[in-house]
Amino acid sequence: MVSSSAMAKPPFASRLHLVWVFCIAIISSLAVSTSFAELQRLEHAAKRDDGSLSFLVVGDWGRRGLYNQSKVALQMGRIGEQLDIDFVVSTGDNFYGHGLKNVNDPAFLESFKNIYTAKSLQKQWYSVLGNHDYRGNIEAQLSPALRKIDSRWFCQRSFIVNAGIAEFFFVDTTPFVNKYLVDKDHNYDWRGVSPRATYLSDLLQDLKQALNKSSAKWKIVVGHHAIRSAGHHGDTPELISLLLPMLKAYNVDMYMNGHDHCLEHISSVDNPIQYLTSGAGSKAWRGDIKRYNNRAMKFYHDGQGFMSVKLAGSDAEIAFYDVLGRVLYTWKASKQLHSTM
Ligand SMILES: *[C@@H]1O[C@H](CO)[C@@H](O)[C@H](O)[C@H]1NC(C)=O
Ligand SMILES: *[C@@H]1O[C@H](CO)[C@@H](O)[C@H](O)[C@H]1NC(C)=O
Ligand SMILES: [Zn+2]
Repeated sequence: MVSSSAMAKPPFASRLHLVWVFCIAIISSLAVSTSFAELQRLEHAAKRDDGSLSFLVVGDWGRRGLYNQSKVALQMGRIGEQLDIDFVVSTGDNFYGHGLKNVNDPAFLESFKNIYTAKSLQKQWYSVLGNHDYRGNIEAQLSPALRKIDSRWFCQRSFIVNAGIAEFFFVDTTPFVNKYLVDKDHNYDWRGVSPRATYLSDLLQDLKQALNKSSAKWKIVVGHHAIRSAGHHGDTPELISLLLPMLKAYNVDMYMNGHDHCLEHISSVDNPIQYLTSGAGSKAWRGDIKRYNNRAMKFYHDGQGFMSVKLAGSDAEIAFYDVLGRVLYTWKASKQLHSTM
């Protein structure tokens, strides 16, 4: 996105250029210091004429291929090929157990670049951070230097991807969770997050404005922590109280997350939001599933795998796959049906 010219410029033009750079620097620092900086927005042009999209969602994966990470990666490659995917969404906890140490951490190669090697996965990866990523060097994982090592990598705290029929709102959920602040067993890299109250209120305000402005047919919010989950970690109360009301108010269709190492689909009994957990990219099989409202619980798989999403006009199709790439569950929805119901 940043273009630069290596051509030599005559001295006057170069001085003029410097003046401009200086002005732009002042203007952009002013823009950032006003309380509500807009969230970074990326445009992802649909590659098909009908504007349809397909993508994979995986979470909680970076374990140097262990715990079947490599097997899941292989099947993602196969399904990615079948669906001719546009991109991959990562729901966080990208590098276990303590994120990345620095931008040269071999984990970036051993858990990402050298694992997701299939041709179909050589697409943009949009990633959020998980709580395990916060236990490492956050600046490293967010650094554009990683994109020089593998250009697929895009990870920011919170950002928006406009992909035509769908707009994706990626939200940094770890700072919402109170218990990490009092976690004596681990260090978290809160650089850029404190003061936390300001960080959260700015983020929620920015998100609200962005959701309000969105005219996309499908609004999808992605975070690491579940709003609703029957898994080991379960619901996240901070997200239920702070994030969920906004998702309801602005007609968000789907909330996608990881954190619980399972695959699950929970619907809502009082609104159209679908809760989709895809956090089964490596270590899974927790064996502890909470009782949940049977009316809302659609599907739960206590094991490894990933999810695919196809969006075409008003139609959505979700599928979950296990470690051998077998389809475990599919769900279809049509927005026209929703709105007349
Ligand atoms: C890996 O997947 C196989 C199924 O193919 C399963 O039997 C095995 O327990 C899994 N291994 C781990 C470490 O989860
Ligand atoms: C949403 O945007 C409209 C303008 O398009 C504005 O009038 C309205 O106040 C906004 N609502 C909120 C809650 O931000
Ligand atoms: Zn997590």
